[in-house]
Amino acid sequence: MDASISDHVALLLPSDVYGDSKKTRSFWRWWNQLSRFQRSLIYMFVIAVLFTILYFLPGNSENVVVDVEKPEANTIKKDVLSNIRNDPRDVENDFNEIENENQVLEEPGDVQIDDINNSKHVLARPNIGVQFPEPLGERQEAVVEAFKHAWKGYKRFAWGHDHLKPISETYHDWFGLGLTLVDSLDTMYLMGLKKEFLEAKDWVENHLHFDKNRDVNLFEVTIRVLGGLLSIFHLSGDKMFLNKALDLGDRLLPCFETPSGIPYSDINLFSSKAHAPKWSPDSSTSEVTTIQLEFKDLSRSTGIPKYEEAVSKVAHHVHTLEKKDGLVPIFINANSGQFRMHSTITLGARGDSYYEYLLKQWIQTGKTVDYLKDDYIEGISGVQKHLAERTVPNSYLFIGELLVGGKDFKPKMDHLTCYLPGTLVLGVHHGMPDSHMKLAEELLATCYQTYVQQPTFLAPEITYFNIHGENSNDMYVKTNDAHNLLRPEFIESLWYMYQITKNTTYQEWGWNIFQAFEKYTKVVNGYTSIGNVRNTANVRPKDLMESFFLSETLKYLYLLFSNNPKLLDIDKYVVNSEAHPLPIYSS
Ligand SMILES: *[C@@H]1O[C@H](CO)[C@@H](O)[C@H](O)[C@H]1NC(C)=O
Ligand SMILES: *[C@@H]1O[C@H](CO)[C@@H](O)[C@H](O)[C@H]1NC(C)=O
Repeated sequence: MDASISDHVALLLPSDVYGDSKKTRSFWRWWNQLSRFQRSLIYMFVIAVLFTILYFLPGNSENVVVDVEKPEANTIKKDVLSNIRNDPRDVENDFNEIENENQVLEEPGDVQIDDINNSKHVLARPNIGVQFPEPLGERQEAVVEAFKHAWKGYKRFAWGHDHLKPISETYHDWFGLGLTLVDSLDTMYLMGLKKEFLEAKDWVENHLHFDKNRDVNLFEVTIRVLGGLLSIFHLSGDKMFLNKALDLGDRLLPCFETPSGIPYSDINLFSSKAHAPKWSPDSSTSEVTTIQLEFKDLSRSTGIPKYEEAVSKVAHHVHTLEKKDGLVPIFINANSGQFRMHSTITLGARGDSYYEYLLKQWIQTGKTVDYLKDDYIEGISGVQKHLAERTVPNSYLFIGELLVGGKDFKPKMDHLTCYLPGTLVLGVHHGMPDSHMKLAEELLATCYQTYVQQPTFLAPEITYFNIHGENSNDMYVKTNDAHNLLRPEFIESLWYMYQITKNTTYQEWGWNIFQAFEKYTKVVNGYTSIGNVRNTANVRPKDLMESFFLSETLKYLYLLFSNNPKLLDIDKYVVNSEAHPLPIYSS
């Protein structure tokens, strides 16, 4: 069709119309012999041809769409993109600033955008406290390459799904919310991966829908999806992300409609039916206390108070419950609002981030809510008193668990617990007692040992410790606990520790572990969890790349290897439990 039209044009215009005078005369003779109907047909044809040419002319804004397959299409069409987006401080502009200025972005001050659509409260702070240094150091380059490798596999085999299965070359859906994609947005933004970011943004805008007739876990969706959307809204200033977050927040809110206000753990996003987990009448303590940063930020960002009210009520209720020297049991009932008697006390699974979010909520709200700080300090004292123990023979300090409501001590530590040194040192930075620093340093060294002592240089999910001198090993691993899910907690702690002490040893430790990930978890189409950290000959790949590998592990490694302390400023952002930075407010 295109070709035949242009053939006609070529025949008619150059030689016949603009030929010599003889030809011109014969043209007019021929023209006058035509009937009116024939002339009209020719007029219409010429007009149609002209329109067609205009339409296909490059640079015509109505015809250009952002082409995900061709990166150059995204870079050259700034004018076009700003027509499509109506927000002047859009992502494209930010990325152009990255390209042009190549240095510290000046702080634009709080930008009051009129509304989400029309209400008066949206607060976006694009790029405040975020700096994009160039050129990247060699180690940062290596982490960016790792991210790109992971992303390539995800894009090819799992695009828009929750998780990549890199070995079977397919995907796994847990909630069906594109978890890996949403979790990766701010990582790509910080790494300056513009092309990848714009593709992902396009998917969120056009394909991320929450009207799913499917049960999801309130906590997981809050820290990953709500946190991810709010974080990238603040970093980029793009309101589309806030609108998505608002829709999700509204769908999650019915979880809180319980007799006590303590939320149920699960909810159907379509029917809004909330309920306790299938396997238990209770919610997990850490889950109901690790949603506050995100819902508070949703309220602050939109000016709609109900989200913050719901989660503050939960936090305050938990504050009023009786604890063991500040330590909490891991289960709580949404109907009675009481802890389950005799449940375990741990800083691992189901307990961990209760303590983390006490400190972080206090920081997020400008250190104005005293009970959060008090409960945090009491909790850490409880840890020092009841849970911190030392190994034989090398006297490594670790955090164990209390069973049966605090009666039996179990010398077992989840890798999850290795988030604690980071939280402790963040607290010290904000004025917490010096004894917390000592605890942080010692615990960090033990966590490092859980890596060093494995032949793969990768830590297992759970480590047991020798406290009675049964043999000469400080720590051991049970067969069922020998897996490594590419978890971030230790790297997270290294980043905080390096931020605050500037001791480059922590960068070295992170680099050693990154090498181990490269060696034992990298596969052709991404990275995979492994089943056995104790056997270099067969690590038993598990064929799953969790979203937190891209959201957290690689982000923290990238931040750890940066020598620019303001790359992500911990005095302006508080980072949620899934490594999504959210702004610190003054109250
Ligand atoms: C704002 O507009 C978007 C799209 O135009 C819509 O999806 C969203 O629900 C609106 N938000 C509010 C709060 O009205
Ligand atoms: C840096 O940290 C390591 C590990 O904690 C420690 O052994 C070393 O003494 C520290 N270096 C300095 C200069 O503080």
